Formats: sequence, C-alpha cells, structure tokens
Amino acid sequence: MRRLLVSAVAIVTCCLPCTTVAAADVQVVGGERASIEANPWAVHLTDARGAQFCGGTIVAPTKVLTAAHCALSRSPSELRVVAGREDKQDREAGVSVTPADIWIHKQYVAADEGEDVAVLTLKKALPYTPLPFAELTDRALYQPGTQLRALGWGRTSENGKTSRYLMQATLPVLPDDFCAETYPQFVKTDMFCAGYEGGKIDTCQGDSGGPIVVEGKLVGVTSWGEGCARKGKPGVYVRIARYAKDLHPVVDALPTGVVDP
Ligand code: ARG
Repeated sequence: MRRLLVSAVAIVTCCLPCTTVAAADVQVVGGERASIEANPWAVHLTDARGAQFCGGTIVAPTKVLTAAHCALSRSPSELRVVAGREDKQDREAGVSVTPADIWIHKQYVAADEGEDVAVLTLKKALPYTPLPFAELTDRALYQPGTQLRALGWGRTSENGKTSRYLMQATLPVLPDDFCAETYPQFVKTDMFCAGYEGGKIDTCQGDSGGPIVVEGKLVGVTSWGEGCARKGKPGVYVRIARYAKDLHPVVDALPTGVVDP
C-alpha cells in the first residue's frame, strides 16, 4: 500500500511489520501467475503518477467494484483504473482511465468494521468482459472448504514489493467461527475469511479491492488481515452477496452522459 493510511485500523491490519517473513517468497503470497485473457475483468488502481495501490473488478461495462478503503479520501482525478494489462510495466497494453465518479458504501467506517465496498463509474464502456457478482441467494458459495481464487498485483511477501504481473492463489473458505476466534472484530454477516490455518498462501497489501472468485462469480473483495500469510491469520474478504442489494442500484445505473439508445 503506497498511501499513508486512512484509518488506525488500516495501520494495525494492513501495515504491521512482520516478525517472521514467509520462507516461500513467491507471488500474491504463495501464488502463481495468471493471464489477463483468462481474467479480463481484473483491474488495478493507480494514483495519477501510475503507482499501483489496490485492485478492482469490472462488474459492468462502466463500473469497477473495489474496496471502500481503496477509494476513500481520493478524488476521481487522483485515480486511474488500469484494465487489460497483466504486466504493470507494459504501458502499451490495455487502458488507463480516470473514473468520473466514486460511490462508497454509506455505512463504511473502517475495513474491519464491514461495508468495505466502493464502485467507480467510468465515462466510457471498457472493452473487457465484466464478471457478475454473487447475489443474496448464492449462500452456498460461502460454505467452508469452497475453493476460491484470489487475484491481484499486491505484495508477494509481507514486507516485499508489489507484483509486476497479475498473480492468483487458490484459497478455501474457512469456517466463520475460526475467523471470529482469530479476529475479535470479525463480522460474520458482512465478511468471510479464506486461506490456510498454517498460513503461507494469502493475499497481501496492494491486493485490496481485488477479486476473489468461484464459478464465474465475484464472491468477495480483498479487505484486510494481520500481516500476510501468517499462521492462524487468514485474509478477510467482503461477503459480496450480502451487499448485492446495495450494489445493484449503483452498478445497474447508467453513468450520466451515457444515453440509452
Ligand atoms: N488491506 C490490504 C490492502 O489494502 C489487504 C490486506 C490483505 N491481507 C491479508 N493478510 N490477506 O491491500
């Protein structure tokens, strides 16, 4: 995370110095490369100077879903959505666009209190296939043990650098009781956690706002965790199905200036 922080919570959960650096210093943390062709809806967010700090997902031609803590206290002019670009350094690939509008969930206070969702509206439709998000009826996708796939350009070790390339990792949903025991602030209705009790594979700083998917659906948004890939400290994700009702009016609305023919 490049930015200096939005909340005390973020300081604790997103930027704790590590005590033990994971030995396996590979990708996302412990992941592998993913192609943009197979995941065309995966985007990253940069500041106006091109520094990447978060992820996002194209959920409609002009709408990008991300975390509230990625968009908070930024104006659209300070933000860029980079789509169609697997290698952050390949300026020729894809597009980098400034959003026209930012919507942040009205109840958002801090990532670990829930409601960590935001929607960026673009003026022009992106030429990449959107990913539908989970609906209230998709409860089954959050069953413990369900194998999800998280994607991002975030750090590949707790104190390391963010990734040049898009990375992915397979992370099983963990039981809510485990998450609640690990994190006293965990809110079962609004969040889920995924990963391994032993750590080693996880999302990390810079992956926030990005997708965690299964069966062609966005089920979560990377939100918070203590350090990265630590034993007993899995990543926490926004339970998107629970926010479908709040997201639909924003995602289904046409951006102003776009005329429905
Ligand atoms: N808050 C982080 C970000 O802004 C994401 C942290 C995820 N942490 C984890 N252990 N999975 O990028």
